[in-house]
Amino acid sequence: MALATCVVFLTTLAVGTLGHSISLSGPSWKVSNTNGSISIPAKVPGGVYSDLQRAGIISDPYYRFNDVLQRWVSNEDWTWTSTFSVPESTLAFANLNLVFHGIDTVARVILNGKEILSTDNMFRRYRVDVRGILKTENELVVKITSPIFYALNQFTEYYNNNYTVYPTSHPNAQHGVEHANFVRKMQSSFSWDWGPAFPSLGIWKDVEIEYYESVKLRDVVVGLAERENHWNVTLALYVEGNQLPSEVTVKADLEGIGQLFSGSAPIVDGKIVLTNINIDERKVRRWWPNGFGEQVLYKLGVDVDGSSKEVKIGFRTVKVVQSTIPGATGLSFYFKVNGWPVYAKGSNLIPIEVLQEKVTKEKIRRIMQATKDANMNMLRIWGGGTYELDEVYEAADEMGILIWQDMMFACALYPTNKEFLDTVSEELRQNVRRIQHHTSIALWAGNNENEMAISGMWWPETLFDITRYKNDYRTLYVHTMKPIIEEIDPWRTYIISSPSNGLETDKENFVASDPNSSLYGDVHFYNYLIDSWNPSNFPSARFVSEFGFQSFPSLRTWKQATDTDEDLVFPLSELVNHRQHHTVVLIIPGNANLERKVYSKFNGPKVNLSSTDQFGVFCYLTQINQAMSIKTAVEKFRRDRSTVKPKSGEGNNMGALYWQLNDVWQAPTWASLEYDGTWKMLHNYAKNFFEPVLITAHRESSLWSNKDIIEVWLISELEAPEKVNVTVEVFSFDSFKPIRSILQEKTLCSDCSMLSNTLNTEDLFAEPCSTDRCFLIVSMFDKKKQLISENWLLAEAPKKIKTLIDADIKVTSVDGPKLRSDGRNEFEIVVEASAPAPFTWLEAGSVAGHFSDNGFFLHAPKKFLNFITSDGSITQDQLTGELSVIQYSRSVDLA
Ligand SMILES: *[C@@H]1O[C@H](CO)[C@@H](O)[C@H](O)[C@H]1NC(C)=O
Ligand SMILES: *[C@@H]1O[C@H](CO)[C@@H](O)[C@H](O)[C@H]1NC(C)=O
Ligand SMILES: *[C@@H]1O[C@H](CO)[C@@H](O)[C@H](O)[C@H]1NC(C)=O
Ligand SMILES: *[C@@H]1O[C@H](CO)[C@@H](O)[C@H](O)[C@H]1NC(C)=O
Ligand SMILES: *[C@@H]1O[C@H](CO)[C@@H](O)[C@H](O)[C@H]1NC(C)=O
Ligand SMILES: *[C@@H]1O[C@H](CO)[C@@H](O)[C@H](O)[C@H]1NC(C)=O
Repeated sequence: MALATCVVFLTTLAVGTLGHSISLSGPSWKVSNTNGSISIPAKVPGGVYSDLQRAGIISDPYYRFNDVLQRWVSNEDWTWTSTFSVPESTLAFANLNLVFHGIDTVARVILNGKEILSTDNMFRRYRVDVRGILKTENELVVKITSPIFYALNQFTEYYNNNYTVYPTSHPNAQHGVEHANFVRKMQSSFSWDWGPAFPSLGIWKDVEIEYYESVKLRDVVVGLAERENHWNVTLALYVEGNQLPSEVTVKADLEGIGQLFSGSAPIVDGKIVLTNINIDERKVRRWWPNGFGEQVLYKLGVDVDGSSKEVKIGFRTVKVVQSTIPGATGLSFYFKVNGWPVYAKGSNLIPIEVLQEKVTKEKIRRIMQATKDANMNMLRIWGGGTYELDEVYEAADEMGILIWQDMMFACALYPTNKEFLDTVSEELRQNVRRIQHHTSIALWAGNNENEMAISGMWWPETLFDITRYKNDYRTLYVHTMKPIIEEIDPWRTYIISSPSNGLETDKENFVASDPNSSLYGDVHFYNYLIDSWNPSNFPSARFVSEFGFQSFPSLRTWKQATDTDEDLVFPLSELVNHRQHHTVVLIIPGNANLERKVYSKFNGPKVNLSSTDQFGVFCYLTQINQAMSIKTAVEKFRRDRSTVKPKSGEGNNMGALYWQLNDVWQAPTWASLEYDGTWKMLHNYAKNFFEPVLITAHRESSLWSNKDIIEVWLISELEAPEKVNVTVEVFSFDSFKPIRSILQEKTLCSDCSMLSNTLNTEDLFAEPCSTDRCFLIVSMFDKKKQLISENWLLAEAPKKIKTLIDADIKVTSVDGPKLRSDGRNEFEIVVEASAPAPFTWLEAGSVAGHFSDNGFFLHAPKKFLNFITSDGSITQDQLTGELSVIQYSRSVDLA
């Protein structure tokens, strides 16, 4: 079916006559299924699910059970076709290349009837010399094979050779498809325990004809080393061309500094290396992570024979410190930026969308802004997603979010045949070169949990052939990946896996007996059976790069997935159970475990509410449980910063990255941001527990040792010690006046944690209090008497508190908007109550934004807070109309 019209988008790059490209992206494409019964307009870049939805053939993929009902889409092969014209003059260039920046995934490409390319890797860019094939009028056909069948075939080939590459199946609860490890595609697109299976097909990044005489400058790799009084800058300029010249003219300019290089330089192995460029340290300002200083970036413009590129760079050093700890077994594991130890506070980024064509710049900005707003300084880009789009790293550079970058291998063993290693090698070269210049990147890591999968015998059958599996592991991550990454980027550390033991893993021939050791490297911690409100149930480890608990998204978000009222009820419906992809310790369905956890802490939801209201309350209670569990864990990890346990050597924790930051659909997951970006209670708590200066209170009681104490700790990221006052106040639930209070002056240490008070629980909660009647507020004031941190403690589970009463909470004033310095709008809100109220939750209905505090413990008659929104059109009246309060005491049955 030839197209009547030819649409060509001419984008002339700003380099004069020497380098051009013709974009073939846009709406001129058609896509059809295997037998041609469906043939519809296609968008490039894009994906088949969105094309089918636009054509009205399928409905919203995230509606109800569509993840399973629409599986037929990826069981088909799909063919994309486009016709386009190219000006005659273009055809004469010495370089005339068709460039696919991303095809998802296994494809054959036919230009004017000639097969010119076959692809097998979503993460790669493909470039084909089309001289002699490209004409003024062209037809381009891209035939993409079902990834499900391709993966199955690859697996079967191995299997028939008596080699099983695990896993062979996933938990049924994931409603997924198998063998993602056999195709270089976003691994979680075959389903995950937080996401649906949409193994899409499509041309997911731009397509263009690049034509030029000399070279195309593809990537700028930047090396920075600090020397006495100056920065030693190295630039590696990666160029492409059908016949690379041996010498080219190179210019490099840095904003604020001027010319770094101008002249001719040789091309060796596809790159031009400019080294020993010295920049006076006084002439540039440093880049710091969020919370430590500004994020100063300088534009670096590079031109090679007329092909140019501009990137932004920041001046900083970043090191992973793994050194001995006096008096302890093991090694430290932490990041030092500009020589300053940085406690890593953050989370794990899963893909922005499971259907990549749905990713927008606005969505990336919103997620990254929420990361910064929650006082985070690090995100781990997890290995089951994609090497992220440039916009993610650009936002991270601007916002001071350090990036722990996994390579895209997760929770599986992988084949190591030559074709696989070759395609992976090219994938790594391209992606590491593309993103390397980003200041925010702090660490490269080979894979997610694959070392632990081998040592931990996740698939017991592997034991029979364990040497082979270990050798394959080393072949991929040590012998193939390590030299590629270290050659491109010798300025950063590469660790093989997460969790791993860092340097210790190397000593154990890269597959350690316990990669998850708490004395080395990083740890992943999951245990859904513990009391997660009790800090002693969390490990003391050097760096915890994953730990998490699930919750439900809000009722409002659930409503985006269904219009059937019976879906959103308590007891839980089939839909809500279908969306729960997690099974706890192989037998307990995730939702059953969430119910168990909720009932262990609350007597809720209130039995006389409607089943719909009970569902809303259940969502709220799971969010409290999740927020409290991660709060408990992070506060413990941060207290561990300056302490080492004398016998075990555990402690000196320097990182807490919880699982997981974002969501790809509306479902029970570990995320702190809902699919539409709404902050769950956890995200609000993260903003507080990641504050640079923090006071915490927790109860330590043990029947065995007859111990029952309350400890108050102070944690500081300040540069110098400071005198502060610490207060501990005991309140009952019927009054805003403390029953007793303690005030002590303390010297707050700098960049450390310290025990401030050890108090006897019995004394503190003495008559008229008891642990089930009263609560604690702990506060820290600086010498100007400003409150610098405040926290609270319930000494018992909420369901045991006997004195909770209706607090009649109301929003009494909304004022604004006022323009903030970051360009967003802010409203001032006053909340009033007649009694203390824990877990007070505000919602802003359909208005996108977040509150400066939420899920808070109201312990004064009035609370002043802000609502921050990027939507400049929201008025005071609109916001007032949308605001609502969820009051804990009205949601649950009280004791
Ligand atoms: C084409 O394929 C679709 C989907 O597999 C199928 O439903 C349809 O019957 C087929 N049509 C023909 C004419 O074979
Ligand atoms: C696989 O193992 C079976 C049974 O041991 C054997 O018959 C077969 O020849 C083996 N196949 C290959 C390709 O090694
Ligand atoms: C500058 O860095 C380059 C690349 O790492 C290195 O080869 C060179 O020796 C360094 N120069 C100095 C003076 O340290
Ligand atoms: C990882 O190690 C930590 C600390 O020793 C431990 O608490 C946790 O259970 C371990 N996780 C796994 C999956 O083995
Ligand atoms: C639930 O009980 C409370 C009193 O405990 C009462 O005020 C309210 O009207 C009841 N709600 C329903 C829906 O029965
Ligand atoms: C702490 O409080 C006491 C009593 O009000 C006061 O004398 C002292 O100056 C305060 N210390 C600081 C650091 O504010």
